[in-house]
Amino acid sequence: MDEMSEPLRGKRIIVGVSGGIAAYKAPLLVRLLVKAGAEVTCAVTEHALQFVTELTLETVSQHRVYSQLFDRSNPHSTEHISLKDWGDALVLAPATANIIGKMANGIADDALSTLLLSFRKPLFVCPAMNTQMLESPAYRRNADRLRADGVHFVDSTSGQLACGTTGDGRMAEPENIVAQMVKQLQVEQDFHGKKILITAGPTYEKIDSVRFIGNFSTGKMGFALAEELAERGAQVHLVAGPTHLTTQHPNIERIDVHSACEMYDAATSRFPSCQAAILTAAVADFRPEHQADHKIKKQNDHDGMTLQLVQNPDILATLGAMKQAGQLLVGFALETDNELENAQKKLTKKNLDFIVLNSLHDAGAGFGYDTNKVTIIDRQGNVTPGTLKSKRAVAKDIADKIIQQP
Ligand code: C5P
Repeated sequence: MDEMSEPLRGKRIIVGVSGGIAAYKAPLLVRLLVKAGAEVTCAVTEHALQFVTELTLETVSQHRVYSQLFDRSNPHSTEHISLKDWGDALVLAPATANIIGKMANGIADDALSTLLLSFRKPLFVCPAMNTQMLESPAYRRNADRLRADGVHFVDSTSGQLACGTTGDGRMAEPENIVAQMVKQLQVEQDFHGKKILITAGPTYEKIDSVRFIGNFSTGKMGFALAEELAERGAQVHLVAGPTHLTTQHPNIERIDVHSACEMYDAATSRFPSCQAAILTAAVADFRPEHQADHKIKKQNDHDGMTLQLVQNPDILATLGAMKQAGQLLVGFALETDNELENAQKKLTKKNLDFIVLNSLHDAGAGFGYDTNKVTIIDRQGNVTPGTLKSKRAVAKDIADKIIQQP
């Protein structure tokens, strides 16, 4: 059998089934996944078994169904052969509003929701519910939260619903679910075996026990790069300044730091074992010379205050000096004047392979946005301007550029 007829060959897929009428389509989905070459196990809620039997799912999947958290006769209920480690991907079809609400809020009160909370690999959710539920603010909030967590949604379609009405809320057809899964899971592993260092986010430079100097960076660009590279097979060391962002992929090792000096230590100690480093962090150039371990008090009502600052180490320049043959170094630049010229100078001075110039002039680009517009300049002198796109799409362009480097 070739890759075309069995595009999921070698993949282990968990089909999660929750209690909606569309559960009657779950056995068909299992069959299609098996036909596509996957090994399949089902995990179901108690309510799902009102619509589809365990025997049907076991027959089509050729595996025991996981339905009880405390079933001592099921091998996947024991710690040592845990289903979360077994599966390469999980598809929840149908996903009711109830299970989506539990997932979005970290509730784990049965076998399937417990598995979902611990699962760290690609997760596909196929919602099915009536239109009012789909349009409710609570459902939308929960679905948005899961999307932000990196869950893939195979959206419902419009048509006749079980409640007798017509509208959005029908589960996507099993053929379409499989097609989307194949598209996502067939990502080329072109970074397999490579270790990549990424810095991301702002740094906080402590003034005293309650205050700091920081900046508006959110870390979104660096986190998008970490996910992109990890999905393409890289082992990622993500050195992150203070941010509320979360990481999804198990190949990402996250090292949380606060200050530029901490980021410097974390990055310089890891760089020698990496094939590439991409420094997206907005590192503070200065830190207070003295950091008080108590809250600094006002002296009197009129006096100002002078804060003496000293320079932080330049992490990128340090890695540029450390760089060995076979290592690749990528920096970011945010310029207000003579953008291209300054970025080019930085590229040479810091011994980079290429530099990513952030645009400050375009709406939707830069700090906090989910989109970015960049120009990539390499040491061979090629200048590649990009269009405004999602930070994840920019991350893909950067990853492609790394792979193409001589
Ligand atoms: O020189 P400039 O700060 O404009 O350079 C920006 C690039 O250098 C970014 O890639 C940033 O992550 C990196 N940088 C660093 N350490 C610093 C300052 C900037 O790694 N102290």
